[in-house]
Amino acid sequence: MKVLFVAGDPKPERWTVPIKELLPEAEVYVWDANGPAVDADYAIVWQPPAELFERETRLKAVFNLGAGIDGLLAVPNLPPHLPMVRLEDAGMSVQMAEYMLHQLVEASRGMETYREQQRENIWKIHRPIKRSEWPVGIMGLGHIGKRVARTLADLDYRVNGWARSDHTLDRVTTYAGANRLTDFLGSTRVLVNTLPLTEETRDILNRQLFSQLMPGAVVINVGRGEHLVEDDLLEAIDSGQVARASLDVFRQEPLPADHPFWQRPEITITPHISARTLRDATLEQITRKIRAHYNGQPITGIVDTGRGY
Ligand code: GLV
Repeated sequence: MKVLFVAGDPKPERWTVPIKELLPEAEVYVWDANGPAVDADYAIVWQPPAELFERETRLKAVFNLGAGIDGLLAVPNLPPHLPMVRLEDAGMSVQMAEYMLHQLVEASRGMETYREQQRENIWKIHRPIKRSEWPVGIMGLGHIGKRVARTLADLDYRVNGWARSDHTLDRVTTYAGANRLTDFLGSTRVLVNTLPLTEETRDILNRQLFSQLMPGAVVINVGRGEHLVEDDLLEAIDSGQVARASLDVFRQEPLPADHPFWQRPEITITPHISARTLRDATLEQITRKIRAHYNGQPITGIVDTGRGY
């Protein structure tokens, strides 16, 4: 079995050494833009070049080094029937839940106010929060969205969930499909986006959506930058409809130094770190699936290209 590693890491051996250990039956190669075909059976990729699919014509499946598959689906000449497999959790959902809790508590408990008070040596206690005033709405109920929902529900926040299809989740009010979006938004103050990027979800965080949230809303985007219409967010902040935003993903990454988001005290910016790809858990999962697939066993996480994730 031949496995080809195709990700722009300057130190690919950080990946290939553990791959060889986990999959001793494989010959492991690193993508060389100028090299010959290796006739790989499997490719492990992150945002691969189009040349991969011109050169490697014997691939049995491609494994994505992330949960979001948009970077792979954007490659123009993807062979139509090649199975593409996305990362399933692999230590990401717990990081997301933690990130979301941090951003939520910053807002719901007014932590910024206490930081400001500390700068002036002020001891002043504000009224305790009413959880009923901070209903959270999670867009996307995959591995990540579900874990976030569970975590926040455990802390007695009111949690709503919205997805394109039906989901049943303990202590979470779920809404399915485009025609339930308005109801979902109307009972949501803290909006969390964990959706995959597809043609249906691109630009979904826009002026019209913000206007349907409860006033003084908080918007947390950990999906993709292309979900968010940036000018619409700035406008919603200016009008007070959105009080704060926490953004981890951007249309252009790194976020350009002159981007207006940097200057906004209402916006918290993090550099796409809400959930890192953890190498050990990721490679354990991917090599296990490669072995299973090679042995003709079923695997989960295969992308439905019609659906886009
Ligand atoms: C990260 O953005 C991922 O898709 O895993």
